[in-house]
Amino acid sequence: MLIRYKKNLEKIAMGLLSFMPEEKDVKKLQQTIKEYETNPDWHLYLWKDEDILGAIGLRIEDGINAVIQHISVNPSHRNAGIGKKMVNEVNRLYNDKFAVCADDVTQQFYNKCDENEDE
Ligand SMILES: CC(C)(COP(=O)(O)OP(=O)(O)OC[C@H]1O[C@@H](n2cnc3c(N)ncnc32)[C@H](O)[C@@H]1OP(=O)(O)O)[C@@H](O)C(=O)NCCC(=O)NCCS
Repeated sequence: MLIRYKKNLEKIAMGLLSFMPEEKDVKKLQQTIKEYETNPDWHLYLWKDEDILGAIGLRIEDGINAVIQHISVNPSHRNAGIGKKMVNEVNRLYNDKFAVCADDVTQQFYNKCDENEDE
C-alpha cells in the first residue's frame, strides 16, 4: 500500500530516490527530500508491503496538474508490478482534483503503465 512520507522514513526514502538518474548526487538528493518535507505542493509516498520497497513523488503545478517526477523501486523487487501499482494509486488519489501527468524523466514509464491498462 501507498503511505505518506514522514521524516522518520528519510533514510529509506533517500535510498530509493537515489536510484533516479537525476538524484545520484547526495547534495541534490538532500535538497529534493527537503523540498518534499517543506513545500506543500510536493508530495512523496512510499510503497509498503512487509518492507518499504518503492517511492513515488509528485508536485502540484498551478493548482491544476499533478506531475509525477520521481518513481523508484528497490532493485531486488523490480518487474513485479510495484512501479505500476504506485502509478495507479497516485492516479486514483489525484485524478478527481488534478490532471495527473509525468515529467520528462518519468514519462516513458508512466506511458508504459497506461499501455498495460488497455491490454
Ligand atoms: C522504473 C521503475 C520504477 C519500474 O519499477 P518496477 O516495479 O520494476 O515496474 P513494474 O514491475 O510495474 O513494470 C515493469 C515494466 O516496466 C518496464 N520499464 C522499466 N523501466 C522503464 C522505463 N524507464 N521506461 C519504460 N518502461 C520501463 C520494464 O521493462 C517492465 O516491462 P515489461 O512488463 O514489458 O517486462 C524501476 O525500474 C526503477 O526504480 N528504476 C530506477 C529509477 C528510475 O530510473 N526512475 C526513472 C524512470 S520512472
